[in-house]
Amino acid sequence: MDHFTIHQLKLFGTVVEAGNITKAAERLHMTQPAASIQLKKLQQNIGTDLYYMNGKNLTLTDAGKEFYRVFLSVRDRLEAFEATLTDLKSGLRGKLSITAASTAKYVMPYLLGEFKDKYPEVDIALKITNRFEVIHQITQMDYNLAILSQVPHNTDLESTPFLRNPLVFACHPSHPLSGKQNINLRTLRDEVFIIREEGSGTRIVMEELLSKSDIHPRIGMELGTNEAVKHAIMAGIGISLVSELSLKSDLELGKISLLDVESLPVITYWNAIYKKSRRVHPLTEHFLSFLEQRKEFSTEPIP
Ligand code: PGA
Repeated sequence: MDHFTIHQLKLFGTVVEAGNITKAAERLHMTQPAASIQLKKLQQNIGTDLYYMNGKNLTLTDAGKEFYRVFLSVRDRLEAFEATLTDLKSGLRGKLSITAASTAKYVMPYLLGEFKDKYPEVDIALKITNRFEVIHQITQMDYNLAILSQVPHNTDLESTPFLRNPLVFACHPSHPLSGKQNINLRTLRDEVFIIREEGSGTRIVMEELLSKSDIHPRIGMELGTNEAVKHAIMAGIGISLVSELSLKSDLELGKISLLDVESLPVITYWNAIYKKSRRVHPLTEHFLSFLEQRKEFSTEPIP
């Protein structure tokens, strides 16, 4: 329908609310003759009168009453749109999509749950996958953020650490070294190790650590997730370096023990990673500042 413009609709609605053309023109910073011309054009285009003057009083015709209802609903919709737009621009609404390495599943749902409580209008999608896939997704696809502890050497990526991720050696509770203090790393050279899949950040750290001590590990099993590694430890297959944040309930239930190895835990950090070359989305910025404010969290394990 191209019989009228939004401006004419607004003028008409303002005339009805002001009660006469002069006051409406003032409110809209128009001259009275300009307002009258627009109202005349509007009624010509619509093809019927919308009001008539009864002395100084403006009376709406049936078409005028209906058109005023149109004005009210358009005004409501536009006001709602403006509010939405403000939220979108400030990052308080929209879809936040995050791709995270598998071990991040022990931390991200807690943080995102807290964020969602504060900002219920934000839709959140969290993809948990292996590290290679995470790097592919943040560099090639449309994700706001990636969560990794081992940041890839890619100059197009910006990263900001937000949470400690201590890595510890975990073993079956009946392991002979369980309960011993200050174990020298080289003592572990005859152990059977469980390792994560190629590309895993935890695996990278474990391999570096063992190689520094000149340990060439005997591999009992290679597994694709931290959860699978924990079950292999519980099954007594071997020991492994794992994120301490993932062990809380297993330690409490006595299903897994820690090895008190000298100079451990290895302190790594969870990082929020985004592409430098893309303008940072307001929602991404908003989530990053939420993480920044939660930094006290960084020294504490997840509840
Ligand atoms: P993960 O952790 O790949 O061992 O699950 C990710 C990382 O440390 O970057």
